[in-house]
Amino acid sequence: MTLLRMLAALALVLIAVPAAAQDVAQAASGSQIVASAVSPSGTLKVDVTLTAEGRVGYLVSRLGKPVIAESRLGFLFTDAPEMLRNFALAGQSARSFDESWEQPWGEYRTIRNRYSELTVSFDEKIWLKRRMTVVFRVFDDGIGFRYEIPRRANFTHANIADELTEFNVAEPGTAWWDEALEWNREEYPYRRTSIEEIGTAQTPLTVRTASGLHLSFHEAALVDYSGMDLRRVQGRVLKATLMPSSAGPKVSRDLPLATPWRVIMIAPDAPALYKSAQIVLNLNEPNALGDVSWVKPMKYVGIWWAMHLDLATWNSGPKHGATTANAKRYIDFAAKNGFGGVLIEGWNKGWDGDWFAQGSDFSFTEAYPDFDIAEVARYAKSKGVAIIGHHETGGNIANYEKQLGPALDLYQKLGIHAVKTGYVADADGIQALGSDGKIHFEWHQGQVAVNHHLKVVTEAAKRHIAVDAHEPVKDTGLRRTYPNWVSREGQRGMEYNAWGEPKNPPEHEANLVFTRMLSGPMDFTPGILSLKGKNNTPLLSTLAKQLALYVVIYSPIQMAADLPENYDANPKAFQFIKAVAVDWDDSRLLAGDVGDYTVIARKQRGAATWFLGAVGDEQERHFDVALDFLDPGRRYRAEIYRDGDDADYRTNPRSIVIEQRTVTANDRMVMRIAPGGGTAVRFVALSH
Ligand code: NOJ
Ligand code: CA
Repeated sequence: MTLLRMLAALALVLIAVPAAAQDVAQAASGSQIVASAVSPSGTLKVDVTLTAEGRVGYLVSRLGKPVIAESRLGFLFTDAPEMLRNFALAGQSARSFDESWEQPWGEYRTIRNRYSELTVSFDEKIWLKRRMTVVFRVFDDGIGFRYEIPRRANFTHANIADELTEFNVAEPGTAWWDEALEWNREEYPYRRTSIEEIGTAQTPLTVRTASGLHLSFHEAALVDYSGMDLRRVQGRVLKATLMPSSAGPKVSRDLPLATPWRVIMIAPDAPALYKSAQIVLNLNEPNALGDVSWVKPMKYVGIWWAMHLDLATWNSGPKHGATTANAKRYIDFAAKNGFGGVLIEGWNKGWDGDWFAQGSDFSFTEAYPDFDIAEVARYAKSKGVAIIGHHETGGNIANYEKQLGPALDLYQKLGIHAVKTGYVADADGIQALGSDGKIHFEWHQGQVAVNHHLKVVTEAAKRHIAVDAHEPVKDTGLRRTYPNWVSREGQRGMEYNAWGEPKNPPEHEANLVFTRMLSGPMDFTPGILSLKGKNNTPLLSTLAKQLALYVVIYSPIQMAADLPENYDANPKAFQFIKAVAVDWDDSRLLAGDVGDYTVIARKQRGAATWFLGAVGDEQERHFDVALDFLDPGRRYRAEIYRDGDDADYRTNPRSIVIEQRTVTANDRMVMRIAPGGGTAVRFVALSH
């Protein structure tokens, strides 16, 4: 046979394979496609494969082009054989789903949850004859899949050594990622490398492929399991690796179990990727708390930045920040300026010793003598201001869990409906009580910490208290199920601009929007109008950018983080912070490129008012955006807060122009963003 004839024969063989396989040339030889699902509009397709040796895999294509090449699925256990080979197809079923649901608060009022679901089961032919089921949900802008392992007489408990899930990115591309397993947890500036240069990354991990597709890898509904990181193993194969546990197995659970959803957001460009993040919410269970009208989106101020500047202390002594008198000063400031809440840090005993990563001295019920908690609560109430409580644990969850009931009861009794928690400790510094009665050291994203956070959130919910966790477990969309989990930190926030070395770079927020923010709200604490950190060191930001952050960074509780005197000194810019909304009917990402810039418009919940925020990076940026998001029949007064023509974060950061224009939906807005700058706009609907 000539070579040509051989090729022709091969082509015939390829054509003869079943219809489902025809468009997917990337299934490795020896692999067979055993099931497929197509997204509701036909954009995405998932194929499930089985190799001759019984290895289960999957691949994903978009409009016929490979996005994820064949990738393996499975598990390793510490006390049972692996689940990796020797599987046979046991059955499959499919269904489609389409519903719209309402968020009690959020970036959007309604979210559409529309997918094709494919459930494929495999039985082990040898060993324990176990079953592994994989459920795929195929949306038009991404996929989610989870494993289900049923209970069997010979397999009642899973001690998972690691998960073997792979994501084999089909095309080369650029990745934005946050180092995993490092001492400073999530709080690193984002790294931008080729996919091949990824080490071990936290999720969300965002990728732009050579053809311009934007992908983000994450997980949804992380419950009673360890957080997933992604380790590049070879080429562009990213392999799941679960956070370790002191117990040995990374996850230990009774069967049956369902894992968190493994999520791939798949979008044609960066703006579309932002919306794909709705998948994370859609893959979570609906609201389990019922009426959550007690969860109040709001702006707040607090006894906070002064400590980060070293002007006040959390601990007792001459500079103690949380005194009754100081709390009243902040309450007065909040009341005068229309802010809903005041955060008070350092009110409780336990800050005087080595609280950082020890936490054993913290009392969550006893106040320092110069802080009269009942009087402060009474005063706040009389002024119509809510107190946000504070529970810093220093990572000692054994000490916190011991006091959790009484600690939350106290807040409930005082009418406090929100608490900020904190877990300041190096990685693997979470101190938890083991079943052996001893203290064990755990990771912030490990199974023990995952379960701890949900315990705090559900105990708080019983008392109508909302939770904002710092040094948290990552957000995987559980706010849908537990809407009192309002916000969290989980990346470098504003505090790094007080004392960070280095401070947050100008591109930081343009990174966050397309990485960390895809997971959910961030309590970033914007609005430092002094533009000064500790020892008067400059922020790498213009004044206008501090305002833009209120629209760009989403959180239903949003801090006006600066000192009251700095707001009093900047009344004009402060006007925007007073006016900006925190809860939205809709959000539109009008323009953006990961790590470079973003322009976001959001419509205030239940009002005709729109807001726009734009931030760039260290370069000057120009935009010309259509205002067609505005209501077509109306005129609006655009109150614009933009960088002055000579603004530059290095030389002239305070240069700002505040001006007004009348606009309609037919207009466009041309913007110049200074290096390190931003633009903030409020669009007020006019009556005629
Ligand atoms: C770190 C938090 O992120 C910060 O907001 C807080 O002030 C300190 N821990 C003290 O709890
Ligand atoms: Ca922090």
